[in-house]
Amino acid sequence: MTRGSLLVDHIGELVTNDGRDGDPLGIRRDAALLVEDGEVAWTGPARHAPAADRRIDAGGAAVLPGFVDSHAHLVFAGNRAAEFAARMAGERYTGGGIRTTVGATRAASDDDLRATVGRLRAEMLRQGTTTVEIKSGYGLNVADEARSLRIAAEFTDDTTFLGAHVVPAEYADRPDDYVGLVCGPMLAAAAPYARWIDVFCERGAFDADHARAILACGQAAGLGVRLHANQLGPGPGVRLGVELGAASVDHCTHLADADVDALAGSETVATLLPGAEFSTRSPYPDARRLLDAGVTVALATDCNPGSSYTSSMPFCVALAVREMRMTPAEAVWAATAGGAAALRRTDVGRLTPGARADLIILDAPSHLHLAYRPGVPLIRQVLHNGVPR
Ligand code: NIG
Ligand code: FE
Repeated sequence: MTRGSLLVDHIGELVTNDGRDGDPLGIRRDAALLVEDGEVAWTGPARHAPAADRRIDAGGAAVLPGFVDSHAHLVFAGNRAAEFAARMAGERYTGGGIRTTVGATRAASDDDLRATVGRLRAEMLRQGTTTVEIKSGYGLNVADEARSLRIAAEFTDDTTFLGAHVVPAEYADRPDDYVGLVCGPMLAAAAPYARWIDVFCERGAFDADHARAILACGQAAGLGVRLHANQLGPGPGVRLGVELGAASVDHCTHLADADVDALAGSETVATLLPGAEFSTRSPYPDARRLLDAGVTVALATDCNPGSSYTSSMPFCVALAVREMRMTPAEAVWAATAGGAAALRRTDVGRLTPGARADLIILDAPSHLHLAYRPGVPLIRQVLHNGVPR
């Protein structure tokens, strides 16, 4: 027995994501899991469970890896509830409201921004999210992008520089100058706090040439590539991401056959964000087309005050199953192992020896209940780094 060890015992259904025996979820029944030093040390049949200092009786419930939310915009001020109400009354989402949030974010104090990130991070943890990526993108000047990332880095290692979210109002008539700012002083100030670089590649935001230039600068500064692509209409984003070896292209709502083919032959994950389609009343991405082509799919919340103000991965799983024809197993995999792949992480998104002991004990006997019982708080307990939260 190791001091400080913790046994999670009497697990009715353990989702390991070990991919063995042709079952991507790697489900084990009547299982137990041993935590040592914040990591999974052992999993196996409950009847062979080793002794441990402490024990949690899961009471026959399902245990899953903590959710990996690989796409979130948490550093912002204010909200855009009125914009949401206008959309529900028939208006279209264009991304134009981003500038409203930029104004509010620039005017906010560090402590206000930190408090918002902390509140949303806590909300996520209560809903089973143990890893989150956090983007900048509502500062859009050197000082406010750098401080957004500095604050984001207090909460996660997966921070993303999104200075190229939209062209801010003061550069509206000289977008080339803004791209120069992003690639020059803004990147220099942001890079020490960022792991990734992202661009909103879309009509009305950044075109393929601008996106390519910005992503290349980010790569040269040592950042990994991800991007917002094909959200509001067809476009070059997905293929550009694949060409640059992006870890993930996100949204993927409007895809041509060539986009799907490019993804299928690549290491780039397609991250689907159904909260955005829900909240903008838009058609959902065609998850089946991607899965059937062999593309790796992740699910994430896109949590932001404009297009998707949800922090709930269970909600996204339920939407993916009901609205996007993913099976519950595919959706749970995409929300855990898929998110880890989108962040190129091997330490999370699975419950196998050596993984971080990030796990969820459900108030239900099976992962199926996440989609079967939508809107119900099924997260009974969360362990983060092996610590009950
Ligand atoms: O992922 N598409 C660009 N960015 C966000 C929306 C940001 C906003 O509306 O404030 C998104 O949907
Ligand atoms: Fe986004």
